[in-house]
Amino acid sequence: MQRQVRVELQDQNGHVRRDQRAADHRVAQHAQIAHRVVTLSCSSRRRGLPIMPRLPDRCTRARHERLQPSRYTAIMPVDLDARVVSNVRLSADYNVVHLEAPSLAADAEPGQFVMVKPTFGLRPLLRRPFSIFELLTDAGGTPTGFSLLNKRIGVGTELLYRVEIDQRIGCLGPLGAGFAAVDPPETAWMVAGGVGLAPFLTLASELKRRGTPARLFYGSRSAGDLFYLDAFTRLDVRLVLTTEDGSQGEAGLVTTPLARELERAEATRPTVYACGPTPMMRAVAALAATHDRPCQVSLEPVMGCGMGGCYSCVVPTRATPDAAVHLVRGCIDGPVFDAQRVVWDRLAPVA
Ligand SMILES: Cc1cc2nc3c(=O)[nH]c(=O)nc-3n(C[C@H](O)[C@H](O)[C@H](O)COP(=O)(O)OP(=O)(O)OC[C@H]3O[C@@H](n4cnc5c(N)ncnc54)[C@H](O)[C@@H]3O)c2cc1C
Ligand code: FES
Repeated sequence: MQRQVRVELQDQNGHVRRDQRAADHRVAQHAQIAHRVVTLSCSSRRRGLPIMPRLPDRCTRARHERLQPSRYTAIMPVDLDARVVSNVRLSADYNVVHLEAPSLAADAEPGQFVMVKPTFGLRPLLRRPFSIFELLTDAGGTPTGFSLLNKRIGVGTELLYRVEIDQRIGCLGPLGAGFAAVDPPETAWMVAGGVGLAPFLTLASELKRRGTPARLFYGSRSAGDLFYLDAFTRLDVRLVLTTEDGSQGEAGLVTTPLARELERAEATRPTVYACGPTPMMRAVAALAATHDRPCQVSLEPVMGCGMGGCYSCVVPTRATPDAAVHLVRGCIDGPVFDAQRVVWDRLAPVA
């Protein structure tokens, strides 16, 4: 028998109507995309649970889990027009946009992302995915919003580079499955290439909260493209810097000091986290495998919806080296994946 749940949907004129729908996560997701949903919510923050409508009170948590066994966004995302609080230009290509969005920030976890529409016009038509860079709070620690670290490479990121204070930009989030932070006595090594730094500030905060010793291997083209070093230092993260032109830190690729340090890491046995260009993440995954270290990678496939509806973000995965390839949606099963599950040869290149 198919279970029915009641949802309340608000149309564009603000009229609320009640709707009797099957307790199917796809129906819930489509309802959410098509309308502003008033009462749909998920009662659990446990990682990996589906987006799910609130079931009648008599339904227990155990019954929720039996009804919805697959992995979906842990909490219900919010869709809002966030106010730009500031836009800090870090360089000719990079900026950080601070956004007022308390309800979105309140539930965000390290490594999650938001789908951003920096214009009310049609270009770009679709939202663009961005990692949550910083979680902003007031003096009392109450969440007030979040920031985005943006690198301009096309139409959407160009608009985000140019946003002005008090402008409103559409944000849907928090979305996706983020990083699993480790506890002491384990240690955490983050490896960032360029704008791949973006998901690591929230992870570094979480690691500090847990007391987990952390390092950041951070590579860029030149010294002018290394950002927020003080912020990581304040979080007790040990920095290992590289630049391709040798203008700061070690000259060359970030994987060189990583390989060297992994050779020496017998005692510390770190968990490795990586985000950056795909060849870098692939090299990091290979190094971690060679040294038998767990590795989580934050992939950046092209995303159309961010919520499992369009299949533009498929990632080829394998449960074990001999298992058949299984295509999963990067926006729901990821963006963070166990690096050994990713079938790197078959990952779609981002042009
Ligand atoms: C989960 C996730 C988190 C991300 N976090 C950040 C972040 O914090 N900061 C940030 O600056 N960027 C981030 N990105 C990448 C960002 O989404 C793309 O740079 C953006 O969508 C490009 O949009 P555009 O309109 O500017 O480019 P378009 O005009 O659409 O395209 C310009 C060029 O960029 C290429 N491109 C499109 N999407 C991507 C992509 N995902 N990666 C690389 N190249 C792409 C296109 O193929 C094209 O060549 C993230 C991506 C994902 C999936
Ligand atoms: S972005 Fe649409 S399914 Fe993943």
